[in-house]
Amino acid sequence: MTSLYDLVPYPTRAEPLAHPDRIAALAALHGLPRVDVRNARVLEIGCGTGEHLLSFAAACPGATCTGIDAGRVHIERAEATRRALGLPNVRFEHADISDAQLDSYDLVICWGTFSWVPESTQQAILQRIRDHLAPDGVALLSYNTLPGWHMMGMVRDMMGFHTRHTDDPVERVAKGRELIEFLRRATSGSGSALNAWMQTMAERMAEVPDAYLLHEFLAPHNHPLHFHELAELLAAHDLRFVTESRASTCALHHFPPPVQAVLQSEQELAGGSVEHLQQCMDFLRNKRFRASLLCHAAASPTDAPLHWDGLTVRGDAEELGEVVTSTRGFTMQATGDAAVLWSLLQDPTRWWSVDELATFLPPDRLYPLLTEALQADLLVPSFHPTPVATILDDRPLAFPLARHVARLQAEVPSLLHHTVPLDDDARALLADLDGTRTHDELTDRWRARLADDEALQPGAIGGALKQLQRAGLLQARDGH
Ligand SMILES: C[S@@+](CC[C@H](N)C(=O)[O-])C[C@H]1O[C@@H](n2cnc3c(N)ncnc32)[C@H](O)[C@@H]1O
Repeated sequence: MTSLYDLVPYPTRAEPLAHPDRIAALAALHGLPRVDVRNARVLEIGCGTGEHLLSFAAACPGATCTGIDAGRVHIERAEATRRALGLPNVRFEHADISDAQLDSYDLVICWGTFSWVPESTQQAILQRIRDHLAPDGVALLSYNTLPGWHMMGMVRDMMGFHTRHTDDPVERVAKGRELIEFLRRATSGSGSALNAWMQTMAERMAEVPDAYLLHEFLAPHNHPLHFHELAELLAAHDLRFVTESRASTCALHHFPPPVQAVLQSEQELAGGSVEHLQQCMDFLRNKRFRASLLCHAAASPTDAPLHWDGLTVRGDAEELGEVVTSTRGFTMQATGDAAVLWSLLQDPTRWWSVDELATFLPPDRLYPLLTEALQADLLVPSFHPTPVATILDDRPLAFPLARHVARLQAEVPSLLHHTVPLDDDARALLADLDGTRTHDELTDRWRARLADDEALQPGAIGGALKQLQRAGLLQARDGH
């Protein structure tokens, strides 16, 4: 059967919050057995066009990866990229998750799929996770969340009404965009909550591709749910919540002290339930999206203290200084011991083992700082980070998947599992970085691409290579 995804494929990307190593590290931080991603069996349910799984599989050759998707075109594209890269450790299957042939997996990822399928498929996804997740395994499930998604749902409802007589997906998207703009303009000057929201939506929708708008707002299924409803579904499938991939979501201390006190007493009244506290925090934050780690109900994750031994981390700050700020606006004072930590974590491509960091600060002072940084979304935890270059090689080698993708499109996956936008010059340069060419040879090739009246600016190659390295697009060799 042809699905809407066959007509308009979804733009799948490598998603840092769903990286298998991050999932394994977060689970271990919460006291669950350690999953070694170097030889893990990884399943992705609803893998789309495969970029997320391919990005991991390309960087982690010992892992065995399986991607299942009901979209024929999605799987054809995923398989074409897999073949072009010659990756033997990933397999894609065109199947409905309800009846796909599955084995046992250490890690299961279901990203951007659960809310966008009928309820019967949601049940099937949880059943299959329960039945095919290894006893010590961990799953990651992302989903649209209430109450925040009510506000998005309002726009979805209006778009559905406005496009009810239009079948063509391209026209539906155009009409959807038109409606948002109309609502923004028609309410401007009213000072109303609706206008403020439509202003926000117009800005947000200007940045998203048509395929995203179509599948999020105009596709038949989008079923957000409250966290407590998810917790009930998990319990019914012998699964349980561990933590969130974005650790700030679980942190109580971001609320002002009087609010924390109310939330704590709410939690006590609910018998100390972690799920109850999560739900109350979602109400206050008007939460609209979650990426939750799950395990079998029989496992016993803990919330505190976090188990930092044996982990590796890197800093992930948007702004450094006396106050360090994350991309989502959470902050951490970088004074005293924290200044020492942040002097080390400045370079986002440099991974540090916690043992190395402990040579600068003893564990009893280091671990609380790491926890604070993690809960401000300023730290990426890992066990076995991908070998990303921290300095420029004489003969730079790009991440093979990024080189392949750069030939096809302007956004490429990095070894840090980010999606990096590149201009035409950077794309061509990246495609040249096969590890055999010196900087001089790369300069000659760049010059050959220029038009007759163009000159290559002095230092251009060094600057461009440094940018690719800082973006995590170059592979480390010889241990750096
Ligand atoms: C919104 S897309 C997300 C794809 C990918 N995870 C991403 O984030 O880019 C949802 C995906 O779920 C897949 N899907 C929907 N129903 C499914 C089912 N019953 N079994 C397997 N995959 C399904 C779709 O084909 C589509 O690729």
